[in-house]
Amino acid sequence: MTSIDVLIRSAPDEACSTDLAKGPWEFDVTPGYGPGSSMGDVIPTGAPRQGELPAAYREADAADLHARIRAAKAALGDRVVILGHFYQRDEVVQHADFLGDSFQLANAAQTVPNAETIVFCGVHFMAETADILARPGQDVILPNLAAGCSMADMADEDSVEECWAQLEELYGTEADAEGRVPIIPVTYMNSSAALKAFCGRHGGIVCTSSNAETVLEWAFERGQRVLFFPDQHLGRNTAKKMGVPLERMPMWNPRKPLGGNTADDLTDARVVLWHGFCSVHKRFTVEQVEKARADRPGVRVIVHPECPMPVVDAADEAGSTDYIRKAVAAAIEPTTFAIGTEINMVNRLAAEYPQHEIFCLDPVVCPCSTMYRIHPGYLAWVLEELVAERKPNVIRVPERVAADARVALDRMLAAKPKDA
Ligand code: 13P
Ligand code: SF4
Repeated sequence: MTSIDVLIRSAPDEACSTDLAKGPWEFDVTPGYGPGSSMGDVIPTGAPRQGELPAAYREADAADLHARIRAAKAALGDRVVILGHFYQRDEVVQHADFLGDSFQLANAAQTVPNAETIVFCGVHFMAETADILARPGQDVILPNLAAGCSMADMADEDSVEECWAQLEELYGTEADAEGRVPIIPVTYMNSSAALKAFCGRHGGIVCTSSNAETVLEWAFERGQRVLFFPDQHLGRNTAKKMGVPLERMPMWNPRKPLGGNTADDLTDARVVLWHGFCSVHKRFTVEQVEKARADRPGVRVIVHPECPMPVVDAADEAGSTDYIRKAVAAAIEPTTFAIGTEINMVNRLAAEYPQHEIFCLDPVVCPCSTMYRIHPGYLAWVLEELVAERKPNVIRVPERVAADARVALDRMLAAKPKDA
């Protein structure tokens, strides 16, 4: 049983869904993302589907799966490297060669030249990025193809192209006296490879939550405005921190002409925010921050910048998953931390740093439903397939898309996080 299963079985009222105790394979056949914070979100048509995981892996117990993973890893040696995101369950993290946030994992994909195969325990956009940055001949495998990201799904290529066409018609394409073009596209890492390629083609860049400020500085040096997608919250929180007034950050709703704005609002804009959000981080509220402060005087509240702006404003600090990890690691005195991010990461920090009291701002256990899709059963399956000289679930971005996306990703990798 996983740590979350134990909690669900002992205290089902404290979890967002009793389905969390089920294996992710039970959800591979359903149209939604399964249990967890984005269970209400539907996987877009055309998104990759996971075939049925063989019964031998669905029915194996945890000890058996871990033994099989270890044996397959040992047989593969340095031909394979396993990358894991901080939001993965502990049962998967224990097998990762490298654990990190999305910026670090993108870097890591470039620094494992000997491995023939990168097994990416994260979500689809991260595996796509690894494939774009990996060396030729290196394959990237996502153990469960249904591990998407509901936020990334909120901006599709057609809607962004349509938005861009309307903005270009409004702004024109002429640079101003300082050489700044009317608008620069910035996509959050949590987006499809096609949108990263769009940014590469249009003089734009990719950002992660750890380097968003450096990236916006880069964009403002080159453009009068920024179109930021898909996460409105990361865009708003970062631009606000940099002094951009809220009234100069109109939101773009792709279902409405001019995104639901007037031409004047858009002309005056500094950042046009796409209307996407993360279903995990939108669960955090100002009331939770207030309750944490009332219950635990002196608590240090740290949240991820995908949280809504009022939550970020009410917190003591906001930063990427790696920022949060480092902040906890750096605390010398025993401290009480209330953390606003995904539950697997918060629980792991609490176990790693018992000298501190660490709890999730949201009292209900609710993991990211797409990260949840990666289970040791899938990891054992892909590794044993590799041992048998077969390669399932390879993520391959077509070269014409990858070439443009690489331009925007290389710009991102050069934009170091402020706290690095
Ligand atoms: P990081 O960039 O902090 O790793 O976050 C990725 C993510 O998906 C957060 O929801
Ligand atoms: Fe996507 Fe949110 Fe899950 Fe991150 S936590 S992978 S943004 S759904």
